Amino acid sequence: MQGTIFTAFSELVIEQQGMAAWDDMLDKVQPASDGIYTNAQQYDDNELFALVGALAEKTGLPATDLVRAFGQYLFDKLYENMPPNVGKIDNLRDFLLAIDSVIHVEVKRLHPNAYLPTFEYDDTDDGDLIMYYGSKRKLCHAAEGLILGAAARFNRNINILHPECLHDGKDRCKLIIQFKD
Ligand code: HEM
Repeated sequence: MQGTIFTAFSELVIEQQGMAAWDDMLDKVQPASDGIYTNAQQYDDNELFALVGALAEKTGLPATDLVRAFGQYLFDKLYENMPPNVGKIDNLRDFLLAIDSVIHVEVKRLHPNAYLPTFEYDDTDDGDLIMYYGSKRKLCHAAEGLILGAAARFNRNINILHPECLHDGKDRCKLIIQFKD
């Protein structure tokens, strides 16, 4: 996985739990990278999963909640490094619809080794947006957090339902985005 994800994760832990907590987690996990991450490199996905596990143990919070909160934090970091043409999108729905066909396509062009999740969409009549998430990484709770981060950026109040999940053996996650205002 791209280093940006790891640097954001270490920043969040250090900001909220302190440097000593981050060092403790590294001692416990002993990642091959030694926990020294840079944005341009790629690192083994398992390092992130192990660090999330260590954080869940340390805080006593469920890993799903931590991953969601991380996704929300990550959004602003990713948004800062977005392809310039996407900056022109001025509303949440169009932004979410652009992830799969524009934003992640550009990421893949810049980093050909990147593995990116897929999103398929259903725009419903009643205004909800349905996003089907697929990825070998099953980071659907990060996707929820990223969507919440995007909603905050576009000043929209949303609710996310997650009635079908890869973690329950489905072949993709169904995320229903309800726009509340
Ligand atoms: C609401 C908006 C977004 C959603 C829901 C989303 C979703 C995700 C998810 C869930 C992942 C984790 C990997 C996986 O699931 O397999 C990911 C990875 C990534 N996304 Fe997005 N994303 C969003 C916006 C962005 C933006 C604005 C950028 C900026 C360019 C971006 C760039 C990336 C990069 C660099 C990765 C790591 C790819 C790798 O592993 O090498 N995403 N995205």
